[in-house]
Amino acid sequence: MKKLSGRIITIERTPVFLGQDVLSSVDRFIRQMHLGREGIFILADKNTRKHCLSLLMENSGVMADAVILEIEGGEGAKTLATAERLWNEMLEAGAGRNSLLVNLGGGVVSDLGGFVAAGYKRGISYINIPTSLVGQCDAAIGGKTSVNTGILKNQVGFFYSPKAVFICPRFLATLPAAHFRSGMAEIIKCALVGDAGLWRRILHHPVPGLLSLPPGHRFLEELLTSTVNFKNRIVNRDYREQKLRKVLNFGHTIGHALESRSLLDPGAPLLHGDAVAAGMICALFLSTQKTGLDPSVNETARKYLVDGFPPCKADLDSIDRIMEIMAHDKKNFRGKFLFTLLSAPGYPLTNISCDRDEVAAAIQYYIGIVEG
Ligand SMILES: NC(=O)c1ccc[n+]([C@@H]2O[C@H](COP(=O)([O-])OP(=O)(O)OC[C@H]3O[C@@H](n4cnc5c(N)ncnc54)[C@H](O)[C@@H]3O)[C@@H](O)[C@H]2O)c1
Repeated sequence: MKKLSGRIITIERTPVFLGQDVLSSVDRFIRQMHLGREGIFILADKNTRKHCLSLLMENSGVMADAVILEIEGGEGAKTLATAERLWNEMLEAGAGRNSLLVNLGGGVVSDLGGFVAAGYKRGISYINIPTSLVGQCDAAIGGKTSVNTGILKNQVGFFYSPKAVFICPRFLATLPAAHFRSGMAEIIKCALVGDAGLWRRILHHPVPGLLSLPPGHRFLEELLTSTVNFKNRIVNRDYREQKLRKVLNFGHTIGHALESRSLLDPGAPLLHGDAVAAGMICALFLSTQKTGLDPSVNETARKYLVDGFPPCKADLDSIDRIMEIMAHDKKNFRGKFLFTLLSAPGYPLTNISCDRDEVAAAIQYYIGIVEG
């Protein structure tokens, strides 16, 4: 294979290319891999079509005739109904087994697009070009595809890997600040779980500085590289989430339930990263109770997270509702809630069983903090 530009991060299950000029490699990759012989389809949401498509097109000749598939965007679009609509549009446009789907967007686009690719004619090739920070550091990598069902997130889906992922930080220039913050939560999670050195370096950056790193900044690229490398190492060793991959769920057990619960409220639902930040505060507390995390580490991490992320709406009355949602989570079973906790930064422990009282105490701890 001819050399492609951008740093290659892994060549195991899926090559991931990262760099400011990485888009110039997309065409060559598509040609070298003989992808899209029956047409190329680009999936974008309203925002990424407006803000990101032109940058991709400036760098691509092979996509000049691509069919653009557009979705509304946001969590509400990640449904079976949207997938069915996209399958019909692809059928009408003549997509075949050798067509290529290019997912240009955040985690919603890559989760939904991966799902659509996995189902269309029993599986067509796709590549991810993530444009949000959550997409670039997390969602586009690892081959987990899904749609939401009712208010339950990610309950239906496939493990189905993209042919490649191209991460271009330049896209982040137009990403709204709240969504940039949301991605930072995932980066902080990876540091806490997998890289104590990175966690210490993050702590040297006060939250406002971290949240305003420009797309070309070296530290942002370092954060992306470390996080992507970490996720890749885990995914390559445990693709189907039998054990090791569960370390990535740190903060997600309660975080996902808070996120799902927010879908019931009027107004904009909670952002994934904000929910994960709240979930991490609960998980850090549980770690001091269950897995011997030093309380001073909890204090430092909690303060950092509280300073950086807005409080999630949760009240004492909603604790039962949150646990009811958690009980539907495929990772929990038989009335016990399974958590990924820490014994120290960089030392995660998976499948730590917590009972209802322990979980309720962690949520109460969180409510106490955000209510001051
Ligand atoms: N599959 C996985 O392993 C995995 C991991 C983490 C998260 N996820 C999923 O990812 C989703 C969250 O991802 P997200 O935060 O990227 O949400 P998202 O895809 O909704 O993107 C956030 C918002 O930013 C906009 N946007 C994206 N890139 C932009 C850009 N460059 N310029 C302007 N606007 C832009 C989008 O249109 C959207 O409004 C959730 O559904 C979550 O379940 C999946």
